[in-house]
Amino acid sequence: MEHRISNSLKILTEADKEACETVRVSENEPLTTKKRLFIESYGCQMNFSDSEIVASVMRDAGYATTSDENDADLIFLNTCAIRDNAEQKVRNRLRHLNFLKNKKPGMLIGVLGCMAERLKTQLLEEEKMVDIVTGPDAYRDLPRLVLDAGTGQKGVNVFLSREETYADISPIRLNSNGVTALVSIMRGCDNMCSFCVVPFTRGRERSRDPHSIVKEAEDLFNLGYREVTLLGQNVDSYKWEKQVNFAQLLEMVARINPELRVRFSTSHPKDITDEVLYTIKKYDNICKYVHLPAQSGNSRILELMNRTYDREWYLERIDSIRRILGEDCGISHDMITGFCTETEEEHQDSLSLLEYVRFDFGYMFSYSERPGTLAAKKFQDDISAEVKQKRLAEMIDIQQRISLERNQRLIGTIQKVLIEGTSKRSENDFTGRIDQGKKVIFPRENFKKGDYVHVLITECTAATLKGKVVAEVEAI
Ligand code: SAH
Ligand code: SF4
Ligand code: F3S
Repeated sequence: MEHRISNSLKILTEADKEACETVRVSENEPLTTKKRLFIESYGCQMNFSDSEIVASVMRDAGYATTSDENDADLIFLNTCAIRDNAEQKVRNRLRHLNFLKNKKPGMLIGVLGCMAERLKTQLLEEEKMVDIVTGPDAYRDLPRLVLDAGTGQKGVNVFLSREETYADISPIRLNSNGVTALVSIMRGCDNMCSFCVVPFTRGRERSRDPHSIVKEAEDLFNLGYREVTLLGQNVDSYKWEKQVNFAQLLEMVARINPELRVRFSTSHPKDITDEVLYTIKKYDNICKYVHLPAQSGNSRILELMNRTYDREWYLERIDSIRRILGEDCGISHDMITGFCTETEEEHQDSLSLLEYVRFDFGYMFSYSERPGTLAAKKFQDDISAEVKQKRLAEMIDIQQRISLERNQRLIGTIQKVLIEGTSKRSENDFTGRIDQGKKVIFPRENFKKGDYVHVLITECTAATLKGKVVAEVEAI
């Protein structure tokens, strides 16, 4: 079988376009004659957002999305490579899908995203039933790759672009609640954190045209959406033609409508500026919540990680957030335990950072060596799995206690909540989030999705707040 690898971003040729027409379905044709695409996303929000671009590209090639894998002609797994266990999850899933494929001749399976980019054609050798391998910058090429795969050739395009931002593609919102949406503002990452595979799987950093971002957010608002999350691996280094920086972009999006909440992720401690913090403060509809990954609380480890800041710098940024946005501003973190050569004392520094900052919540991981990264080349992964796990468990325990205490502080307060939908646990309850990003559950009464309500917080766990509506926002 032939493996085709494109070495440049493929713009469809006339012949390709003609071939695509064979599966294109006209507007008038009943939906049932369309081919069916099932997409499953793994990893970070960027991947979930990319799947919406993929759905849009494939719709133009005649595919309707389905939420039932048994009903699909084409299955895409949009994968993550950040830790070994993320890749294992996908491999297990592929094994399961193999049964389905054997029962359904003609069904095609594609692996997209970061694992596809990392493993390239190796993936085809290791996972025989995979027909298509496509990296994050090659999604415009998917219709051609699917056609190739349909004729028995394996379709591969893992070209990484310096320009692609998919700015002109209107995403199809998948699994949408109709209230909150993700909007990509940039792609790739130019930081070389030594543990991280992302610069290799997503390529160079590039920012998207601010006008296309504002237009997408405006369209969402007009469709009834009430919250957008601006996405990038390092949003603070957003820059459009030396004219628009992240603070200015935030302002442009915030000005669309005061009823549109604006969130963003991820900030980088070395780049988040006071200008950004003052912009957050200036607009009521920019949520008072910052996700600021620390990775470690020890300066020697931070240096080995190539994070380009030390403990003092990180804490100074935290103090600025609290000074400018107040004690109640939500702050969350990412931390890694058991990075190469980390001593017990250095681990204690990470724990003391948690105690100092008192984060609202955090995402904590034990270090997983990724082939090809700087750390894999330069350092030994010398902390045993047991020690990594023990340190992780200690860290999670501390964060759980602090999360609970931070939530308890809110009991008795009234919070503005955007209703996102029905609670998973009970049909009679709604779920939504307060400004600082925390989830709240409350009786639904006669309210509806997309409403803003004021909720009196009455109870909490470390993960969720509970309360009851005291007034609709307009009435206050
Ligand atoms: N761009 C973001 C993070 C993207 S990856 C940032 O700069 O912080 C999400 C998180 O996964 C990271 O913050 C880090 O905590 C974790 N992570 C990344 N590589 C990892 C690895 N090799 N082992 C364990 N955790 C890792
Ligand atoms: Fe990875 Fe660092 Fe880039 Fe985040 S900033 S994606 S951790 S290289
Ligand atoms: Fe994973 Fe790629 Fe995101 S490696 S965390 S899906 S950028």
